[in-house]
Amino acid sequence: MPTFETHTDANQHYQSGFANDFATEALPGALPIGRNSPQRAAYGLYAEQLSGSAFTAPRAHNRRSWLYRIRPAAVHKPFTQVGRGKLVANFADVPPTPPNQLRWDPLPMPAAPTDFIDGWVTMAGNGAAESMTGCAIHLYAANRSMQDRFFYNADGELLIVPQQGRLAIFTELGKLDIEPYEIAVIPRGVRFSVALPDGEARGYICENFGALLQLPDLGPIGSNGLANPRDFLTPNAAYEDREGEFELVTKMNGVLWRADIGHSPLDVVAWHGNYAPYKYDLRHFNTIGSISYDHPDPSIFLVLQSPSDTPGVDTIDFVIFPPRWLAAEDTFRPPWFHRNVASEFMGLVHGVYDAKAEGFVPGGASLHNCMSGHGPDAETFEKASNIDTTKPAKVDATMAFMFETRTLIKPTQFALETAQLQAHYYECWQGLAKHFNPEQR
Ligand SMILES: [Fe+2]
Repeated sequence: MPTFETHTDANQHYQSGFANDFATEALPGALPIGRNSPQRAAYGLYAEQLSGSAFTAPRAHNRRSWLYRIRPAAVHKPFTQVGRGKLVANFADVPPTPPNQLRWDPLPMPAAPTDFIDGWVTMAGNGAAESMTGCAIHLYAANRSMQDRFFYNADGELLIVPQQGRLAIFTELGKLDIEPYEIAVIPRGVRFSVALPDGEARGYICENFGALLQLPDLGPIGSNGLANPRDFLTPNAAYEDREGEFELVTKMNGVLWRADIGHSPLDVVAWHGNYAPYKYDLRHFNTIGSISYDHPDPSIFLVLQSPSDTPGVDTIDFVIFPPRWLAAEDTFRPPWFHRNVASEFMGLVHGVYDAKAEGFVPGGASLHNCMSGHGPDAETFEKASNIDTTKPAKVDATMAFMFETRTLIKPTQFALETAQLQAHYYECWQGLAKHFNPEQR
């Protein structure tokens, strides 16, 4: 049976639903009634609007929230440049993209004290933050909580996929606690700080420069299925009224900047609107598959999409490969051999991916770019070609995922030069023997 338990309290701290028009207050009466910007807000708070879409975006895509806070976001000292670190935000600047299949071992945990923000390295991406198209794919590895340090990202929204260690994310709009098997999405601009309850943390980030992530249409699947809206959780308002010598860090066009700030910016006492952070437990995904024959396209595993201007073509698809039953008869059950116009960056949260017997481990990554042939390795092919398909089989205790994009996913110089790049990945297909015999059907 699937496990629906989470180790975080789903009822106490969260509101349910995807991009709902939420309303929440940490003090009674802090939210104005029937208006957004009264002459004097309750409790001496300041009213501030945070917009995540153009003012004139159609209603279905219009996203904004009203925040009622102790001090406006404008109150801080000037920013100064910190540097780029291992971050890339413009993928015109990376080396030529090799057509080879690429795979990486997990990055080691940092040797020096490193917090969530300092622990990012950009592995690949496309487009550019400054033109608000495409994405950057980062790995993070951290061993220290952010201390008196706050961050916001001007370059895009952050889809965070933990692989090891919990993250306690205190945002302007409330607290999100996530663990491996869960994801969090932090909208562009929302300030937050990350503590590490387990001391260490590692995972993946898809930074979306473009249209906000949304739930896909379901077509003939009907009104339920895949990721159900009620399983997305947005925090209730929570604030701290804290003064001291703090640091506000931001990333703008791939460069980190810092500013002194004399108070915690996590001072939003109440808010309402539909532009807010959220989390989702991947174990709640309702997995659809074949109960007759053949293997449907992996679009059945779609959790979230960032649409492009072309109907049906997404800029980013976030896809998972969760535990599931395989029941298709007289069928090669693992993912088939294929080449796609889309490009695929894969990660593994837990277990073994059913197309790769070995070499793809939790915390690692693979990249199969536009028209690069790939599929099951030789060992998986032999096994799947000979199993009894009159009986169902369970793919269990696994969680792989994919960031799939419409344009090339260009690895960074770091990704192409790191010692974690597996030089011998191509060998997993070299054992695929010739079985062709024109004399025997
Ligand atoms: Fe693929």
